[in-house]
Amino acid sequence: MTAKSHQNVPPKAVRRAEELRTEIDRHNRLYYRENAPEISDFEFDALLRELQDLEKQYPSLVTPESPTQRVGGAPLTGFETVEHAVPMLSIDNTYSYEEIKEFDERVRRGLPPREKPEYVVELKIDGVAISILYERGVYVRAATRGDGYRGDNVTQNVKTIRSLPMRLKGKSPDLIEVRGEVYMPREELLRLNQIREETGEPPLANTRNATGGALKLLDSRLVAQRRLQLALYDIAPLPGSDIASHWQTLKNLKAYGLPVDPHAERCPALDDVIAVCEKWRDKRAGLDFAIDGLVIKVDSAEHRRRLGATSKAPRWVIAYKYPAEVARTRLHTIWANVGKTGTLTPVGELDPVQLSGTTVKRASLYNFDDLARKDLREGDIVEVQKAGEIIPQVIRYVPELRPKGAKRTPVPTKCPSCGSEVYKDPDGVYLRCLNVACPQQVRTRIEHYASRGAMDIDGLGPASIDQLVTRNLVATPSDLYVLDVDTLAGLERMGQKSASNLVAAIEDSKNRTLERLLNGLGIRHVGSHVAELLAGHFGDIDTLMAASEQELNDIYEVGPTLARSVRDFFDTEANRKLVESLRAHGVNMRERRAVGGGPRPLEGKTIVVTGTLKNYSRDTINERIKQLGGRPSSSVSAKTDYVLAGDNPGSKIDKAKKLKVPVLTEDEFETLAEGRP
Ligand code: IVH
Repeated sequence: MTAKSHQNVPPKAVRRAEELRTEIDRHNRLYYRENAPEISDFEFDALLRELQDLEKQYPSLVTPESPTQRVGGAPLTGFETVEHAVPMLSIDNTYSYEEIKEFDERVRRGLPPREKPEYVVELKIDGVAISILYERGVYVRAATRGDGYRGDNVTQNVKTIRSLPMRLKGKSPDLIEVRGEVYMPREELLRLNQIREETGEPPLANTRNATGGALKLLDSRLVAQRRLQLALYDIAPLPGSDIASHWQTLKNLKAYGLPVDPHAERCPALDDVIAVCEKWRDKRAGLDFAIDGLVIKVDSAEHRRRLGATSKAPRWVIAYKYPAEVARTRLHTIWANVGKTGTLTPVGELDPVQLSGTTVKRASLYNFDDLARKDLREGDIVEVQKAGEIIPQVIRYVPELRPKGAKRTPVPTKCPSCGSEVYKDPDGVYLRCLNVACPQQVRTRIEHYASRGAMDIDGLGPASIDQLVTRNLVATPSDLYVLDVDTLAGLERMGQKSASNLVAAIEDSKNRTLERLLNGLGIRHVGSHVAELLAGHFGDIDTLMAASEQELNDIYEVGPTLARSVRDFFDTEANRKLVESLRAHGVNMRERRAVGGGPRPLEGKTIVVTGTLKNYSRDTINERIKQLGGRPSSSVSAKTDYVLAGDNPGSKIDKAKKLKVPVLTEDEFETLAEGRP
């Protein structure tokens, strides 16, 4: 920045902006690269906001590498095409150790006799390949791989990845192109899919699709919400670059301050390569992100030059892919589910089958277009797979095994629950029942309200809800609070004792946190994560209800669709009435009401839970930690006070040990929770 461009800006502001930028970059590094945040997200946002305000007041303070430029650029109308200076080739795949051996033999044949190749084995992260340019150490451009020769200019979107430095550390070449993978952590995909499910959109099959979709969003504000990550694994061989080995390349990338996946290993011999493949076969399930295999690379640059490339892929690299587990089973029934917002989704009931460690009995078939495209019919033998190792997905039916006379399932024209006509969403493929009083919608809304992630009403399951709705005893959540023991005892399979327990559980639900209530209301796009965000931000329901669409939109992580949806919900008369009625029944509508007012022996402690606990689900333990004053967190860092480990803990234990974070058993946790020494 020259002095001239800071005309009329008080020197104090210039200094403060500089300070803030350095601070924010440092916290980004601590958070994303060192996994050791020193400040809370809230404090981080405050720093960012201060810088934004300064830059708004004095626009000449804005620099292209300012952390504020990572989000909020005007939405693009399309992506410009970028030509890659060095083509981004692809990699050949192998699926067995036999094929890896053949690769090693081919490599040896390509080298002078007695030259022994050494390898580097890296995780093959399931994301999208990216090329990033730095000019004189400053970030200037990012492009997708595209067809290998031409990709999309996604500079603005990649900027939103907070682990990406806007300026390289140390001395770097005048022009350097680094390459790597942009990816979405599994937890983020789960969160995204939860939101999609709530809005009736089909879940994204894997983290690669989700990442690709995120990078193609035209509004970088929305990209910022997807919490993408980045790992670099290459420096493009531009003229003048001479790095002797791949291992050295990785070291250089780290020295520039770029994020590099720490799991790469050097393998002097083929046996070591196979051992690494074997190691990750089971261990990969414990990673925070999905991998679809490993990449085996010849280390020496000299060897690589000798081996060269075909038009498609270099001869010095091969991918080893773990086979996706696929199971065959019978699809015995296809029916249409009506969601709480009225979306009709076809659901497939399967003969129970074991798949990647769990029993699968049901699979969402996404939508009726998809069902028709796959031509799935009742009675078919189908192949199911866990998409992104998470959601069971029906891939195809087995034509040879189709029973004679199997019929297509007709696309419903009427709601299977209330018989109203169904409509196609204006811009989508979804069928929707628009009758708000549709009994099935009412049932799913009440089920959602009572569910464990929301108001957690113990003993109020689908069977009782069904009877309550059918008998017109309950039409909205607030009707639950007038039910008495006699009425409930009149339901089928409900004894006096269960009825009085249920009344007590309903009564108890009045004390749930605001975030649980907000989740339970069933606002489109608002799941547990967004509910927590809104509750934390507004503190009570009245402030939230009074917030304008703009105010909602201004919250970090809340986009325009969500803002619109929240506003729509509270602008609807029936929903306002529902809130008032719940309030009249004494349902808590404020955040941070001293839950139980009990002692808080975990005050200020950050606790990460891993594995399966005997006495708690993931939701209930997190709630308990909060109740005791602690802060549940999902990743272990130097700031973690304890890791609570149940059965089959994941890689978080290793990390805890490495960082010397105390690991507690469930019993030890209880001792601590009771405030005993
Ligand atoms: S090397 C010419 N290393 O896999 C070699 N690729 O199937 C260039 N990928 O397009 C790629 N992790 O998107 C390499 N550690 C890694 C990788 C990796 C993931 C992806 C990348 C590439 C695709 C090829």
